[in-house]
Formats: sequence, C-alpha cells, structure tokens
Amino acid sequence: MPLATDLASYFDKNQSRARDELFDLLRIPSVSARSEHNPDTARAAAWISDSLSRLGMTATVHQTKGHPIVVGEWRKARVGAPTVLIYGHYDVQPAEPLDLWDSPPFEPTVRDGRIYARGSVDDKGQLHLHIKALEAHLGARGSLPVNVIVLAEGEEEVGSENLEQFIESHADLLACDAVVISDSAMFAPGLPSILSSLRGMAYFQIDVQGPATDLHSGSYGGAVMNPAMALARILATMHDENGRIAIPGFYDKVRDWGEAARKDIRALPFDDAHFQEETGSPALFGERGYSTLERLWMRPTCEVNGLLSGYTGEGAKTVLPAKAMAKVSCRLIPDQSPEGIETLMRAHVDRVKPPGVTVTVTHLHGGKPWRADLTGPLFDAARRALATAFDREPVIVGEGGSIPVVGDFQRILKAPVLLVGFGLPGENAHAPNEWISEENYFKGMRAMAALWEELAQESSAR
Ligand code: BES
Ligand code: MN
Ligand code: MN
Repeated sequence: MPLATDLASYFDKNQSRARDELFDLLRIPSVSARSEHNPDTARAAAWISDSLSRLGMTATVHQTKGHPIVVGEWRKARVGAPTVLIYGHYDVQPAEPLDLWDSPPFEPTVRDGRIYARGSVDDKGQLHLHIKALEAHLGARGSLPVNVIVLAEGEEEVGSENLEQFIESHADLLACDAVVISDSAMFAPGLPSILSSLRGMAYFQIDVQGPATDLHSGSYGGAVMNPAMALARILATMHDENGRIAIPGFYDKVRDWGEAARKDIRALPFDDAHFQEETGSPALFGERGYSTLERLWMRPTCEVNGLLSGYTGEGAKTVLPAKAMAKVSCRLIPDQSPEGIETLMRAHVDRVKPPGVTVTVTHLHGGKPWRADLTGPLFDAARRALATAFDREPVIVGEGGSIPVVGDFQRILKAPVLLVGFGLPGENAHAPNEWISEENYFKGMRAMAALWEELAQESSAR
C-alpha cells in the first residue's frame, strides 16, 4: 500500500526544514561519558522536550542521578486504539580522535547524500525521524491513529544505569501495547531490516598492581613480578587458539539457535571479502566452526577494549611499571546474564593470576541479551510499513551490538519490542566520520508514519 497522499505531501513539503532542525540537535555535543558536557546533555533533553511540546504533546523532563529522561505523551487517539512507546537516546559517544574527522563532529555536513556528525545515526537522527513522523500525522490531520509515548534517555552510551529503575517506578505512565526503537542499521542499502536479536554486555576493568612505584628495570628487573606481563598472561588465558573463550563455564548458558536460524542467516546476501574490506583488517578471525554472521549474532565474545601500562612515549625508557590496566568487555547471548558472567570472570582471573601482584576486577556495566519472537500484529504492521517506504520486503537480521534497556521494556511493560533501524553498514557509529544516509532519514520518517496507520488498522480489524 502506498503512503497516504496527505502524509506523503506533508513530507515532501517539510523535508528540508526537518533536516535543518536535525542539524540544530546535532550541534549540541551531548556526550554522556564526560561530565564537562552535562550542560549539553541537559540542553539536548530540553531540545527534545521542546520539539515534542511544539507538536502538541505533553512533555516532561525527569531528572535522574545521571542525565535527564524526556517523556512525551499524546493520548487522544480513538477509543480502543493501541498505545505505542517510542524509545531513543539523545546522548552520543565522545568524538575523539578529533583529527580523524573530515569535518567537525558537531558541525553537521552533507557529503554524497550522507549527513556527517557525531550522533547523526546513533541515535539523534533516528530519534528525530520518529518525531517528524509524528509531526506529519499531527500536521496533516491534527491527530494520530495511535496513542504515543516518546521516551528519550541520555545515558544509553554509558550503560543506561538509571533507566531500568525509572521504568519500574513509572510503569503506569509508560504502559503500552508496543515498543518501537530505531537505533540500529539496515542489513544493506535499500534493504529494510527488522532485528530479531541483540547481544548483551558485561564490561570489566582489570587492574594489576605491582611495586609501589615504577622501578628502574636494571636495578629491579628480574626480581619482582612485572604487572604488564602479569596482565598479558591473564588476558592470554581468555581464549584458546581456535578463538573459543576459555573461561570455564562461559558457554554453559548459551542457547543453541538451531539449524533453522543458521539457515536463515545463510540466506542473507553477505560476502566475507566485502566485510573484511570494510573493516580494513588483514584477515577475518573468530571462533572456529561458525560463519562471520553467526559469530556476530549468535556467539558471545570476550574482547580487550583498552590497555594501559608503562612507558608509551617516544624512544626507549627502561622502567618496570608499577601497574597495568585492561578494559575487557563480553558480548552475551541468551541466556547468559551479566551477573553470571561476572562471577565466572572473577573466579577465572583469581585462578590464573600470577603471584607477586594484586589483581582487582571491577564490573563497570552490564545489559541482558535479547531475542525476539517476531510474530503478532506489531511485526505484521512493521513489514507492511517498511515495504511501503522502501519498495522492498524487509529481512529479519540479528545484531551484535547491545541496547541494554530492551529486555527491561519487555519484562516490565510486558509489551513486544520492534527494533527497526535506518543506519547502514560502514556508518562509523562511535568512530570518526559518523554518518546517516539522508535517504534513509527521510524514508525512515515515511516508514514510521505508515507504521502508525498500519498498526491502528491491525487493531481495529481484530
Ligand atoms: N545503537 C547502539 C546499539 C547498536 C550497536 C545497534 C550496533 C546496532 C548495531 C547503541 O547506542 C550502543 O552503542 N550500545 C552500546 C551499549 C553499551 C554501552 C552497553 C554497545 O553496543 O556498545
Ligand atoms: Mn544507539
Ligand atoms: Mn551507540
């Protein structure tokens, strides 16, 4: 079904204004990880709240222990219409390293049909396209076919530490029939995609303390344990030579996806050589016995994200470092839990740590993995809405990344969650030169405007 003509012409007329407004949001450096940007996250929250108010929604900025949560409400749909909750995040990752950006991260710039800026695709552009889809209904018709709650948070990139509690304590306010999230990518250009899974997360810092201060490596070398070597030895025990995680018990809770799921994955258009080229890595590597997509979507990982120890400046310095530190994160698969993995990680590090140093493991943040059952009216409506906007049936894909709150929505609100993203492979999320495709930004609005129509029809037909 094509998009209703009044909505289509609203989009045509207002397209460039939408983009200009998105640029205003992208100019706010709402980096959640750095406290010097707290005024900016507050400004971004106010910006979202104002833009919802201007649509005629009731918008409230809720303060938390961290960054504010914005809730918008519009509840004037016909009696019996479903209520949907749209979730997104207005916070962004730090923009560093700045010198690798071709245009400044907080000065949005269009090149080759791409909008370049930190947060363009993750997630401001995708949150904004939802706001514009709501605006089209309200602007063209003065009403929406569904009741809508918009929930925008500012801590997704730092683990959504305060959101679960907020949902628990505002479960009545947030009660809904469906949750819709656009914070992911399409499988390929022109190929709309619905997510069937997300990996979870257990993030650790490992600190190794040796001597009280750095020591002359001639006067002391060979007589005390070197913390950098101790850390290297600990990290080296985490995998075997086949890329399998060697922490005892790590795979015990991993649910097998079955042959049917593996067959669906094989049917997707995917090319290892092309993927390798995109990474710029000299070769692909991963757990033996699984294809690349299987490794990304249905197998857990344990990866070093950062390492720090000793002298790393120019030239040579003969020194024994006093300490060493590693950031290690595990991506989890149902039914692994961050708590369970924390227990296994602590026990493992304790077992393998060499003598002569003190080793501390700190759990920084976690999130549960998620796998969807994509049946029911929400998903049928989504398939039709995506086909309307993209002229192509959507594919079902897995995802290697994490959105910690998804499992909480399902558990607390007891509503199905639809993850439909409009990013693209190579979009540089979290990296320099992040971009969103202009075309996807505009088609995403149309798809979401169509979704609310389809969903209202589904529910009145039942
Ligand atoms: N939008 C991403 C999640 C995502 C990543 C979706 C890759 C699709 C592909 C989200 O903003 C994100 O970066 N999540 C973090 C979560 C972490 C901080 C707990 C992630 O996956 O690292
Ligand atoms: Mn995101
Ligand atoms: Mn992100």
